[in-house]
This record gives sequence, structure tokens and C-alpha cells, in this order.
Amino acid sequence: MQMLYTDFKKTDNQPIHSMKKATLNIENQVYELPVVEGTEKEKGIDISRLRPETGYITLDSGYKSTGSTKSAITFLNGEEGILRYRGYPIEQLAKNSSFLEVAFLLIYGNLPSKEELEKFVSKITRHTLIHEDMKKFYEGYPAKAHPMGVLASMIGALSTFYPESQKSELEPEEVDVTIRRLIAKISTIAAWSYKKSQGFPVMYPQNRLGYCDNFLHMMFAQPTEEYEVNPVISEALNTLLILHADHEQNCSASTVRMAGSSHASLYAAISAGVCALWGPLHGGANQKVIEMLRQIREEGSDVAKMIEKAKDKSSDFRLMGFGHRVYKNFDPRANIIKASTDSVLKELGNNDSLLKIATELEEVALSDDYFIERNLYPNVDFYSGILYRAIGIPTDMFTVMFALGRLPGWIAQWKEMRDNREPISRPRQIYTGENARDYVSIEKR
Ligand code: SDX
Repeated sequence: MQMLYTDFKKTDNQPIHSMKKATLNIENQVYELPVVEGTEKEKGIDISRLRPETGYITLDSGYKSTGSTKSAITFLNGEEGILRYRGYPIEQLAKNSSFLEVAFLLIYGNLPSKEELEKFVSKITRHTLIHEDMKKFYEGYPAKAHPMGVLASMIGALSTFYPESQKSELEPEEVDVTIRRLIAKISTIAAWSYKKSQGFPVMYPQNRLGYCDNFLHMMFAQPTEEYEVNPVISEALNTLLILHADHEQNCSASTVRMAGSSHASLYAAISAGVCALWGPLHGGANQKVIEMLRQIREEGSDVAKMIEKAKDKSSDFRLMGFGHRVYKNFDPRANIIKASTDSVLKELGNNDSLLKIATELEEVALSDDYFIERNLYPNVDFYSGILYRAIGIPTDMFTVMFALGRLPGWIAQWKEMRDNREPISRPRQIYTGENARDYVSIEKR
């Protein structure tokens, strides 16, 4: 028997490589591979020596059974509907914390002390302006430019205003200032893309306002009149941003890690994450959910018809906001958002007919064998669009809101990957193309 590992020792403070092993029989040669075990007893087989020792690779399209890294940031259990940031249950953070406090927790690993939080918030507040030359970029976008396209390009462009951020190795303070600039400026960039799309003058950030109030002020205030932020709306936004802040190795976080592993700047890696999030199967789903609910209402609120369409394999239509790669039970975020939506609509006296359709759609789907057999439940995107509507966010800005919330998680994932000095990501493949053949001149083809 050949052992595909050096003699891993179970160290006290990092129970990663357990003493358990897996055996693999390849062409009558038995190999032993180390088993790794996380702090929540998740187990994996370390295959890092597989190819050099056996010539074989593994194949797992979409990485459904493949771990790309070890991480201490977010734990989720899809079977039990558990989600924790650095060990804190999402339910407690959504109820008790602020978005910037959660950002600090995700990025630096622990809840900040009072003075740490005050310093973090104060420094972020002072980075909310963007270079006046960047304001001119908005003149170049078409009026109906999708704000995710604007966001991705503006964040990438930030790296050109801070060329020192492009160094392959950054000092800790250079990393911290880049982190603060990104968290501060993304809300200004997002709000200004909305103002520009409406032909309105942009509103500058106000240092007297907190993060959520500042964003709402930049989005909805007009220079011609006083604007008071509604505390119910601000609190709902704080909850939404916290719920979206991280979600372990999802498509966009993995994209940020992949892009960052080449030592591209953090701005470039985040811009790549924005692009990955944009897809309708990922963060773009919240916009698609509202479009789907509107379509149901316009076609006479026939929920059963939409359910049948989602089950029909001949169409590539899916029930947007339903299903999840990891959650095979309820998505804890969907439950919190649904509760928050109910209370916010009541407090605002807003009776959104789409909420009634969404609730009916959930009830019918969850009693249908097709959805039950496939463990398809509402995910974070199913109700979030209704809450964004209630606080006045336009539909094509929903995924931008997802990006605003997810930014600290992307940053935390990038920082962990760089702090752990992980190698450049470069997966292998199984080639299925033509075997070697000789060039044929065009006359003979
Ligand atoms: C997010 O990964 C994360 O953590 C993501 C996220 C985060 O916080 O970062 O949680 C945010 O992206 C939430 C997901 C938002 N996307 C949507 O709501 C789009 C609709 N949902 C799906 O397209 C789908 O459920 C995925 C993409 C979310 C998950 O797809 P998987 O894990 O690849 O599952 P699958 O495509 O293999 O589906 C398994 C079966 C298939 O049917 P069969 O081939 O077995 O017959 O379930 C069916 C699918 O057709 N199915 C659906 C469905 N989702 C899956 N059928 C109808 N409607 C759906 N929504």
C-alpha cells in the first residue's frame, strides 16, 4: 500500500488533518489518502498528491463535491439550514449587529471592541468620496446601462487611481486602506449609477450619516428639498446587507479567490466577483424573481401555471429564487427576510400584491412532489426583491444591493486566501478533443 501523504500530525489548534485515512484502489494498487476534518466535523479527502503519485485527477463539473480551500470565515449546514459568520448565528447578527460591525467581524475574525468599531466606521466614512475624474466616467455610459456593468467597471477603474494597490505584495496597512476604500466607495458608486440613470444630479456622501443612511440619502435625496431617512427603511437595509455579507465558497466568492490568487489587485478581484454575481443563477436571481412575479400578476396570477412551467424540462425556465446548491432545507436568510418584509410593509402601510403572489407560489411549490423530491426551497433571493421594492430600490439595482452586502465577504475570502499564501488557482481537465492531426492546406480541405 502506498501512502499519498507525509506524516501529518494532528496539531492542537488546527484539527485539519485527522489521523483517519481513505483508501483508493487504482489498477490494483492501493493508495492511502489523508482525511481532513474541520471544526464542525466536516470531512474531506486531501487529494493534493493524487496526480503526482498516480497520474489520475478527479473530475467534478461545478465542484458539487469538491472543496477548494479550508476557511474559517463562514460555516453553513445545508441540511439543517445553519449559517454562521465566524461562529455567530446569522439570526443573532441580523437582530443585534450593524452592517459595518459584521464587515469587521468577517474581515478581521472577531467582533470589534467599541473603539475598534468607532475607528473602522470613522475611517470608512472618510473614504466615501470618489475621485472627481471618476464622476466623468458616468457621462460615457448609455442611459439604460445596467448598474452591474457600471459597478464592475468602476470598481476595476478604482485600481487605476490607486496604482500602489497593484503591487503583488502589500503591507498590512496598504491592504487595510484598500479594504476601507472599497467598502466606502461602493455605496457612492452604486447610488451615483442610479442617479445618473434617472438624469438626476448626484448627491454627495454626508459624513454625519451612518453607512445605510448615507446610501439612502445618496439614492433618494434631491438638492431641491430636505430628505429625512426613514428609520424603518434604514433598519431593513441594514438587515439585508448583513444577510448578504458572506456565504462561504459561492460562485462569486470563488471567483474573487481565483482572480486574487494570481496576485491581481483586490479591486480587480472584486470587479471579477461583481461580474460573477450578475448571473441570473446567482445574484441576478433577485431581479428575475420580481420580473417573474410581475409576469404572473400580468398573466392573471395563475401561480399553478408558473409552477408547471418550472417543472417542464422542455423549457429552461426555472422558478427564480428557488433551489440552492448547498441548502437542501430552508435558507435561513429567506426566513429572516420574509419576516422583515412582512413587518416593513405593515409599518410602511405598503400592500405589495407581489408579496401575496410570492407567498402563494411558495405554498404551492412546497407542496409539490417535484420541488419536495429535489429539496427546492426559497433561497435568499426569493423575498429580498420584495423588501428592496418596499424600501424604494429600483429592480435593476437589486443585484447591486446584493454586491454591496457581499463585498465584506468577498474581501474576507480574498484576505484569507492571501494571508494563507495559497497558490495560484489552476484546475486540471480531462481533454476530449481531437487526437494529433496534421495541418491541411486550404486547397485540400
Ligand atoms: C444564490 O451558492 C451560494 O451560496 C449562492 C447564494 C449566495 O449567498 O452566494 O446563496 C446566492 O445564488 C442563490 C441562488 C439564486 N438562484 C436562483 O434562484 C436561480 C434558480 N435556482 C437554480 O437555477 C438552482 O437551484 C441553483 C443554480 C441555485 C442550484 O442549482 P444546482 O445546485 O446546480 O442544482 P441543479 O441545477 O443540479 O438542479 C437539481 C434539480 C434539476 O432537476 P433534475 O435534473 O434533477 O430533474 O433541481 C432542478 C433542476 O432542474 N431545479 C429547479 C430549480 N432549481 C433546481 N427546477 C425548477 N426551478 C428551480 N429553481
